[in-house]
Amino acid sequence: MKITKDERDAVYKTIFSRRDVRGEFKSEPIPDEVLKRVLTAAHHAPSVGFMQPWNFIVVKNTETKKKIKKAFASAHAEATKMFDEEKRKKYKSLKLEGIIEAPIGICVTCDRTRNGPVVIGRTAIPEMDLYSSVCAVQNLWIAARAENLGVGWVSIIDNQALREILKIPDHVVPVAYLCVGYVSFFHEKPVLEKAGWLYREDLDSLIYYENWG
Ligand SMILES: Cc1cc2nc3c(=O)[nH]c(=O)nc-3n(C[C@H](O)[C@H](O)[C@H](O)COP(=O)(O)O)c2cc1C
Repeated sequence: MKITKDERDAVYKTIFSRRDVRGEFKSEPIPDEVLKRVLTAAHHAPSVGFMQPWNFIVVKNTETKKKIKKAFASAHAEATKMFDEEKRKKYKSLKLEGIIEAPIGICVTCDRTRNGPVVIGRTAIPEMDLYSSVCAVQNLWIAARAENLGVGWVSIIDNQALREILKIPDHVVPVAYLCVGYVSFFHEKPVLEKAGWLYREDLDSLIYYENWG
């Protein structure tokens, strides 16, 4: 099956207009069939040895979201201390999550025991299963953008807190907590770039040939 030019352009448009969303969530519910399409895209991500180590915990309950927000607030307070004076003020002014506002949260996990102890491709580097779950996150993020849904990855949460709130067993690693919902608009550029926090690196300076440097 060949991809047509229009289809190719649609894929790039989706990739380049994807954003991390924190402050623009609308309360409009996500239809079940849309959520299912997005999760199906995530489930079709590549995975080491076809391990498919992911699960998707869909969170709609406000009480659960409040607990997650509390865990965020505590990790965020810890993080604030790590920046120097100059950056601390700016860091505190950034909105870095939309946990309550987003109609749903999705925790993407990695079951490190899925499909037995020896997995094709994970023999030299055990973390390959975690990388596979990250591939599922990225598929989800891109598919959501194609559905005009925003996604925000909230990583400022202690994993142990997330485990307790979502009752995740020990052999399963929470990989990502994602806020998902329709948005009032998508920013044209990363919000951290707009805020002057960091800028997009020059691609040419990141590409090396044959060896490092
Ligand atoms: C692994 C990972 C963790 C992230 N954690 C957070 C987070 O905790 N809070 C937040 O506001 N954004 C988070 N982001 C979003 C990034 O800040 C964002 O992707 C980056 O600034 C580029 O912006 P864009 O995604 O809109 O292109 C995370 C992104 C990734 C890939």
